[in-house]
Amino acid sequence: MSERIKRLIDKLEENHTLVKEEWVEIFDNYDDSDREYAAEKARAVAVGVFGNKVYIRGIVEFSNVCKNDCYYCGIRCSNSNAQRYRLTDEDILSCCDEGYEYGFRTFVLQSGEDYKEYPASRMAEIIKRIKASHPDCAVTLSLGEMEYDDFKLLKEAGADRYLLRHETATREHYEMLHPKVMSFDHRMQCLSQLMELGYQVGTGMMIGSPFQTSEYLANDMLFLHDFKPHMIGTGPFLPHKDTPFKDKPKGSYELTLFVLSLCRLMLPRVLLPATTALGTINPLGRENGVLAGANVIMPNLSPTAVRKKYMLYDGKICTEDATSECRQCIFARMKRIGYEVEITRGDYKP
Ligand code: SAM
Ligand code: FES
Repeated sequence: MSERIKRLIDKLEENHTLVKEEWVEIFDNYDDSDREYAAEKARAVAVGVFGNKVYIRGIVEFSNVCKNDCYYCGIRCSNSNAQRYRLTDEDILSCCDEGYEYGFRTFVLQSGEDYKEYPASRMAEIIKRIKASHPDCAVTLSLGEMEYDDFKLLKEAGADRYLLRHETATREHYEMLHPKVMSFDHRMQCLSQLMELGYQVGTGMMIGSPFQTSEYLANDMLFLHDFKPHMIGTGPFLPHKDTPFKDKPKGSYELTLFVLSLCRLMLPRVLLPATTALGTINPLGRENGVLAGANVIMPNLSPTAVRKKYMLYDGKICTEDATSECRQCIFARMKRIGYEVEITRGDYKP
C-alpha cells in the first residue's frame, strides 16, 4: 500500500474534501490494499450513520420508450431491436401495491424519456393515486430531463425524490457519450431546479464509461462535493450489443467499489445504492457494495413479463424473477453479510 494514497484517504475522511490533483493522484495510483483500506473506513462510517441496516427501494420500469439516443444505453431510440412496452396506470399501481405487501416503502418510477405518452399531468395523477393508497410511502421519479414547470407540478402532486444522473461532470466527456442534440447545460440546469424545488435529489455517473479518465472522475467527485446530492447512484458501465459502444470495455468492478467508499467518506450521510449494474458485473456485487459503504438496494418491482425489455446493458440481473423472489433474495443476501433490511421510507437525514 502506498503511504501517500493512504494519507489522502485519511484526509478525505477527516475533511470530506480533496483538491482535483489529489483525486487524480488517487485514481491513477490506488491498489487493492488502498481500496480495502477505504472500504473498511467507509463501512465504519456507514454503520455509524445507518447501523447494520440497508434501505430498499422498489423500481417500477414503466416504459422503455425513449426519445433520446445516448450512445451507451440499450433502450436508445435508434435501437430497433428493442421491443418497446408501456405499462398502464393500473399496472403501475398494482406493482406498487404488490411491493407494499413485500415491505417496500419507496417506489421509484423509472422510464425512458417518454413524455408524449406520459406527460407530467398523467404522471401527477399516478403519483396522487400511489400516495392515496400508500400515504406512508415515498415516491421517487427517474423520468429524465424536464422543464421547471413539470418538475414543479410533479412535486406538488406528492413526488418526494428525483433521480437524474449527471453521467459525467465534464462537458467534453458528456459530448462523447451523447448526440449533439442533448445538452450538458440543460442536464445540469435540471439538477439545480430539482434542488430548488425541494426534492431529495439523486445524481451520479457510470464508472468506466467510454473515454473516462482519472481527470474526468476527479471532476465528478468535485461536482458531487459541491452539489451535495441526497443520493449518489453509481455503477459500472456495461456494454449493450445494439449500441455504438457495443465493443467498448466494461467498467471496473473494483474501481466502482472504490468510488462507493470514497463517496461515503466524502458525504457520510448520503444515500448510496449498491446498484443492479454492480450486481450484474459480479454475483456478489451488491453485498460487496454494502461492505464498501453503500446502504441502499433497489430491487425491481416491474412485472416479470416486461423486465427483459428494460435492457440497458447486456446480462442485466433479475429479469427472470418475480418481486417476491427478489425480495427474498435481497433479504437473504443482506442477512448473510450481517445486515438487515429496514422497512421504512429511508429518507435522507441531514
Ligand atoms: N431516462 C431517465 C434518465 O435519463 O435519467 C432514466 C432511465 S436511464 C436508462 C437510467 C440510467 O441508466 C442512466 O442514468 C445511466 O447512467 C444508466 N445506464 C444506461 N445505460 C447504461 C449502461 N450501458 N451501463 C450502465 N448503466 C447504464
Ligand atoms: Fe432479484 Fe436477487 S434481487 S433475484
